[in-house]
This record gives sequence, C-alpha cells and structure tokens, in this order.
Amino acid sequence: MVDTAVRRRTALLEVEDLAVHFGGVKAVDGITLQMRPGHIYGVLGPNGSGKSTLLGAVTRLTPLTRGRVLLEGQDYTRVPARKVHRMGIARTFQTVRLLDDRSVRDNILLGQDTLARRARRTMGARVDEVMERVGVREVAQLRPDELSYGMQRRVEFARAIIGSPRLLLLDEPTAGMNTAERAEIGTLMKQLRDEGVTQFIVEHDVQMMVDTCDHLFAMNVGRLIAQGEPLEVVRHPAVQEAYVGKGAARGA
Ligand SMILES: Nc1ncnc2c1ncn2[C@@H]1O[C@H](COP(=O)(O)OP(=O)(O)OP(=O)(O)O)[C@@H](O)[C@H]1O
Ligand SMILES: [Mg+2]
Repeated sequence: MVDTAVRRRTALLEVEDLAVHFGGVKAVDGITLQMRPGHIYGVLGPNGSGKSTLLGAVTRLTPLTRGRVLLEGQDYTRVPARKVHRMGIARTFQTVRLLDDRSVRDNILLGQDTLARRARRTMGARVDEVMERVGVREVAQLRPDELSYGMQRRVEFARAIIGSPRLLLLDEPTAGMNTAERAEIGTLMKQLRDEGVTQFIVEHDVQMMVDTCDHLFAMNVGRLIAQGEPLEVVRHPAVQEAYVGKGAARGA
C-alpha cells in the first residue's frame, strides 16, 4: 500500500503491534509507533506501565510475545541484541550498570563494538572527545564506584554514544541528578539530535520531557494512551488521570 511505502521511506524505527507478556503480566500489550530520524521522542507513564520493557524490546534484549520491529524498513525482530547494537541502536539502563573494577575510560570504551573498533589512536581521540562532551574527562582514571551517582550516569551516557548510534534509547538518564545537571543533559540531547541522532527517552520529569522532546508518547498498563506535541500530551485527560493522578510526576 502507498501509505506503508511512504512511511517506510521516512521512518527510522517502526514498532508494529508489539507485545511483551511475563506470565500473566501484560507489560507491553499491543504498541504500534513510528519514529522519524533526527527527532527526540519521549515516553511518559506511571511506574510499571511498561516503558522500560518497551525499550528492552526495541533493543531486542527482551523476548517478544508478539509483533515486529523495523529499522529503516528492515525487519530486525529476530536479530540478536549484540547485532542490533551493531546496526546502530544503543541504550542506557534505568539502573547504573558499570564495571567497578575498571576505569571510567575503560567502561566507556566497552561501548565500542569490537567489530567496529578503530585503530588504537583514533579510538583514543574518540574516547577523549566523548568524555569531554559528557563532562567526565577529569575522572577518566577513577573507578565508577568512586563517583557520584550523577557522574556514573554520565559515564553510561558516554558509553552509549561512543559507537555513534543512529538511535539512542535512554532509560531515566537524569534520575538522581540536580537541576543544573539535568539541564546539561537536556542540552547534550538536543545537540545530538541536531547532529541527526534520534533519541527515545523514558523520564518521569515532565518539565524536562516537555522542554527536550519533539514528540511524546504516553503509556498506561502496556498500552499507548496518547501521543503528539508534548504539551498537548501532558494536558491530555487520559494522561492526567493515568500519570499525574497516580502522583508519579516525580521532579515535575
Ligand atoms: N523480567 C520481568 N519479569 C516479570 N515481570 C516483569 C519483568 N520486567 C518487568 N515486569 C513487569 O512488567 C510491568 C512493566 O514494567 P516496566 O519495568 O516496563 O515498567 P516501567 O514503566 O519502566 O516502570 P518504572 O517507571 O517503575 O521504571 C511491571 O508490572 C513489572 O513488574
Ligand atoms: Mg522503567
């Protein structure tokens, strides 16, 4: 169909009727969405609404119950997570996952896929550039457990972007950060977007999402309940009821 063909040409990511059930828990239950390249997309939703599960499904770390995922029209539903990373999809996790027996610099280098590893000198320059950008250059030789939580989150951000992903998935990237740090991360996201990196962000900070995202999705019990222009989504009655009503608007 013509509509589908047009969409295929313009969408970076397509999610079709995606479902992830854990036994009787329908964590994600029939989500269809598209993302165009070079935009920042956000997901709002109360605790347990399926946001992290959706991210896990898109990276193919989480097994699907149903549905398909496509990158630039190419179905990668059955591609293993390691190869999905190589296709240009990188993520950070909701909880810090860094190696405490390695330096900050080494942790960041681990984000560079072995197959894509460049010459040692080029890589050295690249890791310096990324550390500078994310604001962790001064702590390059420290171990993650010597850093504040906010700094650890920056290291994870650096590890996710060192491989120059096309699609960057961020699960609560500014949790545990103060207002100034949040603003810095917001600026970094917008710079990356202007360089063409599409981003898919889960955050509970409603104000930050409105300020940063080009398009918002709202979820409740595994389903999309609204999407569109950020302020309109936040003000949508179903979103107010599901999200704000439950007092989940931490930091907003
Ligand atoms: N591996 C798992 N096994 C069983 N149930 C799971 C698993 N992962 C998530 N769930 C359940 O699926 C539902 C959605 O969880 P998910 O972590 O995706 O929510 P979330 O929107 O990211 O919540 P939060 O805002 O608290 O991070 C919850 O009921 C959760 O308990
Ligand atoms: Mg989550």
